[in-house]
Amino acid sequence: MSTTAGGSTQQESEEQGRRGAFSSRRVFILAAIGSAVGLGNIWRFPYVAYENGGGAFVVPYLVALLTAGIPFLLLDYAIGHRHRGSAPLSFARLRRGTEGLGWWQVGICFLIAIYYAAVIAWALRYTFFSLDEAWGDDPEGFFFGEFLQAGDIRVTADVVPGVLVPLLIVWLAVLAIMALGVQRGIGATSLIFIPVLVLAFTALVVRALFLPGAGEGLDALFTPDWSALGSASVWAAAFGQIFFSLSIGFGIMITYASYVGRREDMIGSGLVVGFSNSGFELLAGIGVFAALGFMAQAGGVGVSEVASDGIGLAFVAFPAIISEAPAGALIGVLFFGSLVIAGITSLVSVIEVVISAVRDKLDTGRLTATLGVVVPAAVLSLVLFSTTSGIYVLDVVDHFVNQYGILVVALISMLVVAWVLRALTGLGDHLNVHGRPRIGAGWRILTSLVAPAGLAVVLFFALRDDLRAPYEDYPDWLLLVFGWLLVVALPLVGFLLARLPWRAGTHLDGAPPGSDPAAPLHATEGGSR
Ligand code: PHE
Repeated sequence: MSTTAGGSTQQESEEQGRRGAFSSRRVFILAAIGSAVGLGNIWRFPYVAYENGGGAFVVPYLVALLTAGIPFLLLDYAIGHRHRGSAPLSFARLRRGTEGLGWWQVGICFLIAIYYAAVIAWALRYTFFSLDEAWGDDPEGFFFGEFLQAGDIRVTADVVPGVLVPLLIVWLAVLAIMALGVQRGIGATSLIFIPVLVLAFTALVVRALFLPGAGEGLDALFTPDWSALGSASVWAAAFGQIFFSLSIGFGIMITYASYVGRREDMIGSGLVVGFSNSGFELLAGIGVFAALGFMAQAGGVGVSEVASDGIGLAFVAFPAIISEAPAGALIGVLFFGSLVIAGITSLVSVIEVVISAVRDKLDTGRLTATLGVVVPAAVLSLVLFSTTSGIYVLDVVDHFVNQYGILVVALISMLVVAWVLRALTGLGDHLNVHGRPRIGAGWRILTSLVAPAGLAVVLFFALRDDLRAPYEDYPDWLLLVFGWLLVVALPLVGFLLARLPWRAGTHLDGAPPGSDPAAPLHATEGGSR
């Protein structure tokens, strides 16, 4: 590959054509919002805020967003946008020896995809269950019993058809989106789905606000408990929520940013994505707590009795609300439909991290890489999660990957980039060429000190809790195999993969030829090569 300055423009557009690209900054922003807005916004944020000071949570939350979330998001953007590669390729271009960090992130994404798809499949099934309130008057018994057929905690091969079919549908949809490529697949999906999601969810919130008891729910969510600000665990919860919610530190934003034209403003984009994601969280908080207030009033109990998060909120509390409320089917379709859409746009972002890495490394075409990644992921997902033991494995993998997978790799990559490679100045300069508002020493301090410190505190609290008592009192072997072992294996596998050779002709050291951001951009979509 020639590296002359004159040839760089053409090389660049060739590379864009080969790897794929978003057709515009707007599409990239929608795709990034699609990744950030996921199940976490809808079923995690409202409860985290409620538990950690209610209205007062806004303080640590905003501090975490502004001092760690957005600065870290910009760091991810800078790495991918400057080095124009998947996570492993971008790290290899930063410094050859750090490629393993990228593969570690790829491993985490692969794992997340496998179980995230299962939750989307449940939500898909429940969208239809809402129509006739299939859960009857015992949503909890129905979910664990009739629907998941969860038995004793052991790994079984007993397939549950009610999960198998929607899970297959989810994977087929993912396969189709990924095969279509960056713009026609991910970009087009985001372009359609994000507006639909916002409309559907807003409709849900409006409906929920008119339910009797909604006011009490909102009071419960927003009444500030200022004393919470003195608690370190509340601050840790805020940082943890921000890191998870923005999808930062595990390869997604590096990958997406590598598909953006080099003359685009990545700083402004980061601000839009960060604030949109938080806006959606606020909307979700209002909708969820208005509905919970209704449920509390209908049951004659306090909101604290009905408030919950995660699986319990979506598959136990909401079905009860849907049964109780007038026009419940509408609420159900809007709620579960939103979960499906928010989930799919996040799922494709984690899968793209893997596909992009495989393509960069092995020089395969889009379709080959898509099949090579999605088919094994789908098979694993089906084997693990469409059986009667699925729920336990899912709960454990989810807990450990979130706590120790994402947070540890994010912390280590950030420290390496800031302190070992000392790359922040170069990366900040890169963003400043076309980005506004400009970033400088403040950003470097936030990314090298404040954000890592925030991450370390979150990790400390998580580790303390897990060492004090086994997570959810699950048996040791389950936690060991699907928790600790998996988390430790990922970096090892990552650094092994980094030893495989790159496809011939890959430019490795420093930014790729022609990555001068001032060069004109002719972004074209690679599609199926
Ligand atoms: N940001 C997503 C959310 O809030 C989290 C996520 C995205 C998790 C992609 C995994 C993969 O739900």
